[in-house]
Amino acid sequence: MYICLCKAITDSHIREAVEKGATKFGQVRKELGLASQCGKCGILARDVFDQTIENAIDNEQLFYAVS
Ligand code: FES
Repeated sequence: MYICLCKAITDSHIREAVEKGATKFGQVRKELGLASQCGKCGILARDVFDQTIENAIDNEQLFYAVS
């Protein structure tokens, strides 16, 4: 699903960034260029990021990264 239409960024791109080690939304935003044009995608992008981090913590993939 497209999250950012201006930059053609999908939810998969955000999840991939987290899988590659991003633990802060700012990292993902900077790396992908999220919300860097009109900014309308910021809230939804943050929701996808938060959900991805929570899932990773639940699966114990990020236990050491965020603790
Ligand atoms: S929709 Fe993401 S910057 Fe416009």
